[in-house]
Amino acid sequence: MAYQAFDVKPIAGALGAEILGVDLSQDLGNQEFDEIHQAFLDNKTLCFRDQSLTPDRQVKFASRFGQPDIYPYIKSLPGFPEVIEILKTEQDTMNFGGGWHSDTSYLPQPAMGTFLYALEVPDSGGDTLFTNMQLAYENLSSAMREMLDDLIGVNSSAQNYKGGRAASMKKLDGMKGKFIESSEVSVAEHPVVRIHPETGHKGLFVSRAHTTNFKGMSVEESQPLIQFLSDHAVRPEFTCRVRWRPGTLVLWDNRCTQHFALNDYNGQRRRMNRVTLRGDRPV
Ligand code: SIN
Repeated sequence: MAYQAFDVKPIAGALGAEILGVDLSQDLGNQEFDEIHQAFLDNKTLCFRDQSLTPDRQVKFASRFGQPDIYPYIKSLPGFPEVIEILKTEQDTMNFGGGWHSDTSYLPQPAMGTFLYALEVPDSGGDTLFTNMQLAYENLSSAMREMLDDLIGVNSSAQNYKGGRAASMKKLDGMKGKFIESSEVSVAEHPVVRIHPETGHKGLFVSRAHTTNFKGMSVEESQPLIQFLSDHAVRPEFTCRVRWRPGTLVLWDNRCTQHFALNDYNGQRRRMNRVTLRGDRPV
Protein backbone atom coordinates (compact mmCIF):
# COMPACT_ATOMS: atom_id res chain seq x y z
CA MET A 1 0.00 0.00 0.00
CA ALA A 2 1.06 3.65 -0.46
CA TYR A 3 1.81 5.54 2.74
CA GLN A 4 1.41 9.34 2.91
CA ALA A 5 3.06 10.09 6.25
CA PHE A 6 6.45 8.35 5.83
CA ASP A 7 8.54 6.15 3.56
CA VAL A 8 8.70 2.38 3.96
CA LYS A 9 11.83 0.49 2.97
CA PRO A 10 11.45 -3.31 2.99
CA ILE A 11 14.26 -5.21 4.72
CA ALA A 12 13.67 -8.55 2.99
CA GLY A 13 11.19 -10.30 0.71
CA ALA A 14 9.45 -12.22 3.50
CA LEU A 15 8.83 -9.56 6.15
CA GLY A 16 10.27 -6.51 7.84
CA ALA A 17 10.50 -2.85 6.86
CA GLU A 18 12.25 0.31 7.98
CA ILE A 19 9.98 3.29 8.55
CA LEU A 20 11.68 6.50 7.48
CA GLY A 21 10.75 9.99 8.61
CA VAL A 22 8.91 9.37 11.89
CA ASP A 23 9.98 10.87 15.23
CA LEU A 24 8.55 8.70 18.00
CA SER A 25 9.59 11.16 20.70
CA GLN A 26 6.69 13.35 19.51
CA ASP A 27 2.97 12.61 19.77
CA LEU A 28 1.73 11.05 16.54
CA GLY A 29 -1.34 12.32 14.75
CA ASN A 30 -4.14 9.86 14.04
CA GLN A 31 -3.40 9.52 10.33
CA GLU A 32 0.30 8.94 10.98
CA PHE A 33 -0.49 6.35 13.63
CA ASP A 34 -3.11 4.60 11.44
CA GLU A 35 -0.52 4.28 8.68
CA ILE A 36 2.09 2.91 11.10
CA HIS A 37 -0.49 0.42 12.31
CA GLN A 38 -1.23 -0.59 8.70
CA ALA A 39 2.51 -0.89 7.98
CA PHE A 40 2.80 -3.11 11.06
CA LEU A 41 0.10 -5.43 9.72
CA ASP A 42 1.59 -5.37 6.21
CA ASN A 43 5.23 -5.96 7.22
CA LYS A 44 4.96 -7.75 10.60
CA THR A 45 8.24 -6.26 11.83
CA LEU A 46 8.96 -2.52 11.77
CA CYS A 47 12.26 -0.82 12.39
CA PHE A 48 12.55 2.87 13.38
CA ARG A 49 16.11 4.28 13.35
CA ASP A 50 17.72 7.11 15.30
CA GLN A 51 14.97 7.48 17.90
CA SER A 52 15.40 9.14 21.26
CA LEU A 53 13.02 7.30 23.55
CA THR A 54 12.66 7.48 27.31
CA PRO A 55 10.93 4.44 28.88
CA ASP A 56 7.88 6.66 29.26
CA ARG A 57 7.79 7.50 25.53
CA GLN A 58 8.32 3.86 24.62
CA VAL A 59 5.31 2.87 26.74
CA LYS A 60 3.31 5.75 25.29
CA PHE A 61 3.99 4.65 21.70
CA ALA A 62 3.22 1.01 22.54
CA SER A 63 -0.05 2.10 24.19
CA ARG A 64 -1.33 3.39 20.84
CA PHE A 65 -1.45 -0.26 19.70
CA GLY A 66 -2.98 -1.81 22.82
CA GLN A 67 -2.49 -2.56 26.49
CA PRO A 68 1.15 -2.83 27.66
CA ASP A 69 1.57 -5.96 29.73
CA ILE A 70 3.68 -6.93 32.72
CA TYR A 71 6.23 -9.64 31.98
CA PRO A 72 5.92 -12.31 34.70
CA TYR A 73 9.55 -13.45 34.95
CA ILE A 74 11.68 -10.28 35.09
CA LYS A 75 11.47 -7.30 37.43
CA SER A 76 10.58 -4.14 35.59
CA LEU A 77 12.49 -0.86 35.54
CA PRO A 78 11.81 1.16 38.70
CA GLY A 79 8.80 3.38 38.03
CA PHE A 80 7.94 1.63 34.73
CA PRO A 81 6.06 -1.61 35.44
CA GLU A 82 5.70 -2.41 31.72
CA VAL A 83 9.39 -1.98 30.80
CA ILE A 84 12.08 -4.61 31.33
CA GLU A 85 15.77 -4.20 30.64
CA ILE A 86 17.53 -6.94 28.68
CA LEU A 87 21.24 -6.73 29.33
CA LYS A 88 24.11 -8.96 28.24
CA THR A 89 27.37 -7.81 29.83
CA GLU A 90 30.97 -8.34 28.72
CA GLN A 91 31.12 -11.30 31.17
CA ASP A 92 28.03 -13.14 29.89
CA THR A 93 28.25 -16.03 27.48
CA MET A 94 24.50 -16.80 27.37
CA ASN A 95 21.91 -14.33 26.13
CA PHE A 96 18.19 -13.76 26.62
CA GLY A 97 15.95 -14.78 23.71
CA GLY A 98 18.57 -16.93 21.99
CA GLY A 99 16.16 -19.43 20.45
CA TRP A 100 13.34 -19.03 17.91
CA HIS A 101 10.13 -18.14 19.72
CA SER A 102 7.05 -15.96 19.86
CA ASP A 103 6.99 -13.97 23.11
CA THR A 104 5.06 -15.54 26.02
CA SER A 105 3.28 -18.16 23.88
CA TYR A 106 3.00 -20.14 27.16
CA LEU A 107 0.49 -17.58 28.57
CA PRO A 108 -3.28 -17.87 27.99
CA GLN A 109 -3.11 -14.49 26.21
CA PRO A 110 0.36 -14.35 24.64
CA ALA A 111 1.97 -11.01 23.81
CA MET A 112 0.46 -9.39 20.74
CA GLY A 113 3.46 -7.23 19.93
CA THR A 114 6.90 -6.42 21.31
CA PHE A 115 8.67 -3.05 21.23
CA LEU A 116 12.43 -3.43 21.69
CA TYR A 117 14.59 -0.32 21.96
CA ALA A 118 18.38 -0.46 21.67
CA LEU A 119 20.39 1.55 24.20
CA GLU A 120 23.83 -0.09 23.86
CA VAL A 121 24.87 -2.47 21.08
CA PRO A 122 28.07 -4.35 20.24
CA ASP A 123 30.36 -3.06 17.48
CA SER A 124 29.25 -6.04 15.44
CA GLY A 125 26.91 -8.95 16.16
CA GLY A 126 23.83 -9.09 18.38
CA ASP A 127 21.40 -8.89 15.44
CA THR A 128 17.85 -10.18 15.79
CA LEU A 129 16.33 -12.51 13.20
CA PHE A 130 12.61 -12.66 12.45
CA THR A 131 10.55 -15.17 10.53
CA ASN A 132 7.13 -14.97 8.88
CA MET A 133 4.98 -17.75 10.34
CA GLN A 134 2.19 -17.20 7.80
CA LEU A 135 4.56 -17.76 4.91
CA ALA A 136 5.81 -20.86 6.71
CA TYR A 137 2.25 -22.18 6.98
CA GLU A 138 1.41 -21.35 3.35
CA ASN A 139 4.48 -23.26 2.16
CA LEU A 140 3.43 -26.57 3.69
CA SER A 141 1.59 -29.17 1.63
CA SER A 142 -2.20 -28.96 1.73
CA ALA A 143 -2.41 -32.35 3.49
CA MET A 144 -0.02 -31.16 6.23
CA ARG A 145 -1.92 -27.86 6.59
CA GLU A 146 -5.20 -29.73 6.98
CA MET A 147 -3.77 -32.00 9.64
CA LEU A 148 -2.23 -29.08 11.56
CA ASP A 149 -5.47 -27.08 11.42
CA ASP A 150 -6.97 -29.43 14.04
CA LEU A 151 -3.98 -29.68 16.40
CA ILE A 152 -3.62 -27.93 19.73
CA GLY A 153 -0.12 -27.23 21.04
CA VAL A 154 0.83 -27.32 24.71
CA ASN A 155 3.26 -24.48 25.43
CA SER A 156 5.33 -24.21 28.60
CA SER A 157 7.55 -21.50 30.05
CA ALA A 158 9.73 -24.27 31.48
CA GLN A 159 10.56 -25.87 28.13
CA ASN A 160 14.34 -25.77 27.61
CA TYR A 161 14.95 -24.52 31.16
CA LYS A 162 16.08 -27.46 33.23
CA GLY A 163 15.84 -26.52 36.91
CA GLY A 164 13.52 -23.63 36.09
CA ARG A 165 13.65 -20.45 34.05
CA ALA A 166 14.88 -18.26 36.92
CA ALA A 167 17.68 -20.70 37.84
CA SER A 168 18.94 -20.82 34.23
CA MET A 169 18.66 -17.11 33.73
CA LYS A 170 20.49 -16.43 36.97
CA LYS A 171 23.62 -17.54 35.13
CA LEU A 172 23.41 -14.28 33.17
CA ASP A 173 25.43 -11.58 34.85
CA GLY A 174 23.39 -8.83 33.18
CA MET A 175 20.08 -10.27 34.39
CA LYS A 176 21.22 -11.07 37.96
CA GLY A 177 18.72 -10.03 40.58
CA LYS A 178 16.13 -9.25 37.93
CA PHE A 179 14.39 -12.64 37.79
CA ILE A 180 11.26 -13.10 39.84
CA GLU A 181 11.92 -16.32 41.75
CA SER A 182 8.34 -16.91 42.80
CA SER A 183 6.89 -16.92 39.26
CA GLU A 184 5.05 -20.12 38.50
CA VAL A 185 5.62 -22.23 35.41
CA SER A 186 3.02 -21.13 32.85
CA VAL A 187 1.44 -23.68 30.54
CA ALA A 188 -1.12 -22.78 27.87
CA GLU A 189 -2.86 -24.69 25.10
CA HIS A 190 -3.15 -22.88 21.78
CA PRO A 191 -4.04 -23.85 18.21
CA VAL A 192 -0.96 -24.88 16.22
CA VAL A 193 -2.40 -22.81 13.38
CA ARG A 194 -3.77 -19.49 14.54
CA ILE A 195 -5.87 -16.98 12.65
CA HIS A 196 -4.56 -13.44 12.85
CA PRO A 197 -7.35 -11.45 14.51
CA GLU A 198 -6.77 -8.35 12.36
CA THR A 199 -5.87 -9.75 8.93
CA GLY A 200 -7.61 -13.14 9.01
CA HIS A 201 -4.50 -14.90 7.69
CA LYS A 202 -3.47 -18.28 9.07
CA GLY A 203 -0.01 -18.86 10.50
CA LEU A 204 1.92 -21.48 12.44
CA PHE A 205 2.00 -20.96 16.21
CA VAL A 206 4.42 -23.61 17.40
CA SER A 207 8.05 -23.51 18.50
CA ARG A 208 10.85 -25.70 19.73
CA ALA A 209 11.39 -23.14 22.50
CA HIS A 210 7.93 -23.37 24.06
CA THR A 211 5.83 -26.23 22.57
CA THR A 212 6.26 -29.44 24.53
CA ASN A 213 3.63 -31.62 22.81
CA PHE A 214 0.31 -31.69 21.02
CA LYS A 215 -2.82 -32.07 23.15
CA GLY A 216 -3.78 -35.75 23.42
CA MET A 217 -0.33 -36.90 22.24
CA SER A 218 2.78 -37.79 24.23
CA VAL A 219 5.95 -35.72 24.10
CA GLU A 220 7.66 -38.56 22.18
CA GLU A 221 4.87 -38.68 19.61
CA SER A 222 4.76 -34.90 19.23
CA GLN A 223 8.40 -33.88 19.21
CA PRO A 224 9.39 -35.09 15.72
CA LEU A 225 6.66 -32.95 14.15
CA ILE A 226 7.44 -29.98 16.44
CA GLN A 227 11.09 -30.23 15.40
CA PHE A 228 10.15 -30.43 11.70
CA LEU A 229 7.83 -27.42 11.93
CA SER A 230 10.40 -25.43 13.92
CA ASP A 231 13.05 -26.06 11.26
CA HIS A 232 10.64 -25.44 8.38
CA ALA A 233 9.45 -22.14 9.91
CA VAL A 234 12.92 -20.62 9.84
CA ARG A 235 13.89 -21.41 6.26
CA PRO A 236 16.05 -18.45 5.16
CA GLU A 237 13.50 -17.29 2.58
CA PHE A 238 10.91 -16.75 5.35
CA THR A 239 13.20 -14.53 7.44
CA CYS A 240 14.74 -11.10 7.78
CA ARG A 241 17.57 -9.85 9.95
CA VAL A 242 17.78 -6.58 11.86
CA ARG A 243 21.13 -4.98 12.60
CA TRP A 244 20.78 -2.77 15.66
CA ARG A 245 22.16 0.70 16.28
CA PRO A 246 21.71 2.68 19.50
CA GLY A 247 18.36 4.43 19.10
CA THR A 248 16.77 1.70 16.95
CA LEU A 249 13.25 0.65 17.97
CA VAL A 250 11.91 -2.57 16.50
CA LEU A 251 8.29 -3.54 16.81
CA TRP A 252 7.15 -7.05 15.87
CA ASP A 253 3.85 -8.89 15.66
CA ASN A 254 4.09 -12.03 17.81
CA ARG A 255 0.84 -13.33 16.32
CA CYS A 256 2.51 -14.09 13.00
CA THR A 257 6.29 -14.01 13.56
CA GLN A 258 9.01 -15.60 15.61
CA HIS A 259 12.36 -14.07 16.49
CA PHE A 260 15.83 -15.13 17.56
CA ALA A 261 18.41 -12.99 19.36
CA LEU A 262 21.81 -13.93 17.96
CA ASN A 263 24.50 -14.57 20.57
CA ASP A 264 27.66 -13.82 18.59
CA TYR A 265 29.23 -10.94 20.52
CA ASN A 266 30.84 -12.38 23.65
CA GLY A 267 32.98 -9.83 25.49
CA GLN A 268 30.74 -6.96 24.36
CA ARG A 269 27.72 -5.34 25.94
CA ARG A 270 24.16 -5.11 24.62
CA ARG A 271 21.34 -3.33 26.49
CA MET A 272 17.73 -3.01 25.37
CA ASN A 273 14.43 -1.88 26.91
CA ARG A 274 11.44 -4.07 26.10
CA VAL A 275 7.69 -3.49 26.27
CA THR A 276 5.15 -6.14 25.33
CA LEU A 277 1.45 -5.75 24.60
CA ARG A 278 -1.23 -8.04 25.96
CA GLY A 279 -2.69 -10.14 23.15
CA ASP A 280 -5.93 -12.00 22.74
CA ARG A 281 -6.53 -15.72 23.17
CA PRO A 282 -5.31 -17.36 19.93
CA VAL A 283 -8.00 -19.00 17.76
C1 SIN B 1 13.45 -11.17 23.03
O1 SIN B 1 13.35 -12.36 22.81
O2 SIN B 1 12.48 -10.47 23.32
C2 SIN B 1 14.81 -10.49 22.93
C3 SIN B 1 15.18 -10.23 21.53
C4 SIN B 1 16.49 -9.52 21.42
O3 SIN B 1 17.12 -9.20 22.43
O4 SIN B 1 16.93 -9.30 20.28
